[in-house]
Amino acid sequence: MASGKTINSLAMLFNLNGKTAIITGASQGLGKQFAIILNKAGARVILASRDIDKLNAFSKELKNSKAIQMDVANSASVKAAFAALEEAGEKIDICINNAATEALTPVFSEDDNGDFERVMQTNVMGVWYVTKAVANHMKSHKINGSIINISSVNGDSFPYKELTAYAASKAAVIHMTKSLVTELSQYKIRINTINPGPVQSDLLGSPNKHDPNFWKDKIPAGFIAEPSYLDGLILYLASNSASKYVTGATFAIDGGISWGGKS
Ligand SMILES: NC(=O)c1ccc[n+]([C@@H]2O[C@H](COP(=O)([O-])OP(=O)(O)OC[C@H]3O[C@@H](n4cnc5c(N)ncnc54)[C@H](OP(=O)(O)O)[C@@H]3O)[C@@H](O)[C@H]2O)c1
Repeated sequence: MASGKTINSLAMLFNLNGKTAIITGASQGLGKQFAIILNKAGARVILASRDIDKLNAFSKELKNSKAIQMDVANSASVKAAFAALEEAGEKIDICINNAATEALTPVFSEDDNGDFERVMQTNVMGVWYVTKAVANHMKSHKINGSIINISSVNGDSFPYKELTAYAASKAAVIHMTKSLVTELSQYKIRINTINPGPVQSDLLGSPNKHDPNFWKDKIPAGFIAEPSYLDGLILYLASNSASKYVTGATFAIDGGISWGGKS
C-alpha cells in the first residue's frame, strides 16, 4: 500500500499553484488548451496573441488569467508586452512559445509573395524574441522557469510537400532550444521542445485534413489528436517537480507519424 507521503508527493507532482504561465497564440487551437490545462493545475495564465478581443473573451472563462496583445513577429510588440507585464508586477515561471503560422511555399512558383519570410519571421524570430524577453525576466527575478517551445513533426522527420518554410522554421525551433540549454541552465531555467503530429485545429489546413479517415493510413496510431492529448506532456514540462532534470529535450507526440507516417 502506498504511504501517505507518496500520495502527498504525487498530488504535488503537477500542482502549479502560485505559478504564472504565459502562452503565446492562446486565442485558439492548441494554445487555448494549454492555457486551460495549466489553469486547471493552479497556474495564473497570461494569454498572448494579436487578437485582444478574442483573448479578453477567453480570459473571462478562466478564473486567474489576463489577456495581453502581442505580435510575436514584431520585436517592439514583444518588448512592449513584457514591459507592461513587468510594470504590472507579474512574475512568469512558465512560457509556452506556441504561436505560429503556416503557408505553402512551392519551389516551382513564380509567385514571390513573401510567405517564406513571413513564416520564418513568426515561427523563428517570434520564438527568439519571446524567449529572450522571458529568459531575461526569469533571470532578473531569480525564477527557475520552464520554457516550452512548440515545434512540429515537420521540423524533424516528416517532410511534407510544399511545406518547406514551415518545416525549416520548426527545425530552427528545435535547434534553437538545444543551443540555449547551456546559457539558460546557469540560471536554472529549463527549455524543451514538443513536436506534435497532426492535431485538430485551424492550422491543420484543408477540410479533408480534418477528416479522421484522411489520417487513418497516414498515422500509425490510426487517428488524429485533439489538443487535449498534449495535456500530460505540457503539465510534465511545466512542473519543476515532475521534470527538474529535463532540459534541451525534444518530445514527439504524434501517433508514431515520425517513424512510419506516409505524407
Ligand atoms: N495543429 C497541428 O496539427 C499542429 C501540428 C504540429 C505543430 N503544431 C504547432 O502547434 C502550435 C499551435 O498550432 P495550432 O494548430 O493551434 O494553430 P492555430 O489554430 O492556427 O493557432 C495559431 C495561434 O497563433 C497565434 N498567432 C499567429 N501568429 C501570431 C503572431 N504573429 N503573434 C502572436 N500570435 C500569433 C494565433 O492568434 P492570433 O491570430 O490571435 O494572433 C493563434 O492563437 C503552432 O506552433 C503549430 O506550428 C500544430
